[in-house]
Amino acid sequence: MLPTITLTNKEQELGNLVIPVSRLSKIPAGIFTTSEKGYLKKQIDDFKQDVVSFNRLNYWVYLFYIKPEPDRFKRLESCRKGGCQIAGLLHQQKADKVTVFDPEGNNEEVMAFAEGLSLGCYCFLKYKTDKDEENKLREIELYSSNSPSAIHITHLNILLEAVSRCRDLINEPNSHLTANGFARAVEKMAKESGAGVEVFHQQKIEALKMGGLLGVNQGSKEPPTFTVMEWKPENAKNKKPYLFVGKGIIYDTGGMNLKPGDFMLNMKDDMSGAAAVASVIYAIARAKLPVYVVGLMPATDNRPGAEALVSGDIITMHNGTTVEVLNTDAEGRLILADALSYASKFDPALVIDLATLTGAALRAIGKFGAAAMQSQAVNELEALKFSGFMVYERLVEFPLWDDYGEQIKSDLADLKNTGSSDAGMITAGKFLQKFTAYPYIHLDIAGPAFLEKPDSYRGQGGTGFGVRLLFDFIKSYCVAAKV
Ligand code: BES
Ligand code: MN
Ligand code: ZN
Repeated sequence: MLPTITLTNKEQELGNLVIPVSRLSKIPAGIFTTSEKGYLKKQIDDFKQDVVSFNRLNYWVYLFYIKPEPDRFKRLESCRKGGCQIAGLLHQQKADKVTVFDPEGNNEEVMAFAEGLSLGCYCFLKYKTDKDEENKLREIELYSSNSPSAIHITHLNILLEAVSRCRDLINEPNSHLTANGFARAVEKMAKESGAGVEVFHQQKIEALKMGGLLGVNQGSKEPPTFTVMEWKPENAKNKKPYLFVGKGIIYDTGGMNLKPGDFMLNMKDDMSGAAAVASVIYAIARAKLPVYVVGLMPATDNRPGAEALVSGDIITMHNGTTVEVLNTDAEGRLILADALSYASKFDPALVIDLATLTGAALRAIGKFGAAAMQSQAVNELEALKFSGFMVYERLVEFPLWDDYGEQIKSDLADLKNTGSSDAGMITAGKFLQKFTAYPYIHLDIAGPAFLEKPDSYRGQGGTGFGVRLLFDFIKSYCVAAKV
């Protein structure tokens, strides 16, 4: 459980205190002694520290120095990282409460700081007998000379809870999560948030002729699911919905094209896209944002087995397109294609998919951002990129030029599921685009979805990439600006 952020307008009692500040001179008198001030100045000016701490016997005081940084996005990111650093220090003290005192009224910076502080407390200890490592911090009290509005704090708490739920789902190993289990978790999130939900099971999926999802599922002993989550408030500003589609490969062994050696490691993360979709709709519904959104989450594991697809098999997709499956490890695009063609029936304003789709995206830009591609959605992607910088889930655009389409033409069927070894993330995106006839953005999150080593507030394991991005996008583009 992440700590909750609360607002206060009373002077702090004696307790753990953090002061994020850009100018030491702005700290009111009485907080630090003269010698403490001298020490602070020295640590910051001479030793270039941005976190300084004092022990006052039964509580701690921390100072976070907000460095002058003209780039708004970088400045906010360093505040999140500072928050996470202080979360670590508070954890060492087994602190359960901290007051963040903002003497300058740096609203945006301090919200980012609190965000990093809260996310930095995330841990996944479900399978540890000894829960002692658990972070004890439960409350982050914010005391500011210019308090953010209560609604901002509520939204932030909801969002952080959504990120935490998303990470939990990703971190759950295949031994404890099936496609059915995933669908049940989404149902629970829908109920808690007030969103609508429907789970399609085998029979319905067969009736819908979702040959991609059924094909990938052939080798599994667990049946597939297809979950639809919907938030359609009466005051929605848009008539045509915004759709999010998430890749829900519960575990990717590669299928008959079995992943060799270490390549299978961490493939429980192959449902990160679906987890992010469920979590962001949970957040939008709980925050009661006036926007009509729908999430589609096809889910199955990808395994070899007597019935599994083999190279050369031809399957027929939901929209009737035939696909020659040359490599069973290019499975994500098969289940997503069904979901993307199913999306048409909603007459969407925009469809965004999130998928841990290709190793090529990971190799191209690493763990620091996602590869984005668009068709008929130039302005939407610009807005999404801006959100990406705001929340530091950054996007890099790749083209969907027609030339790439040549690489996925099949001799025997309409399409084949692999291109050449060049530009793998683009041929995957090009494949998906063939199933869309609406404004469309594809996000390949194979890089940032999961971290082997901890990285500040993004943590270790599932990061929840996409949840903060889409929540910001919906709030700023769909609610405020456009629709
Ligand atoms: N889930 C993988 C992509 C992946 C790789 C995600 C590494 C995260 C980290 C996907 O299903 C896959 O196996 N893609 C293949 C496609 C290839 C066979 C065309 C790949 O990228 O190697
Ligand atoms: Mn694969
Ligand atoms: Zn996969």
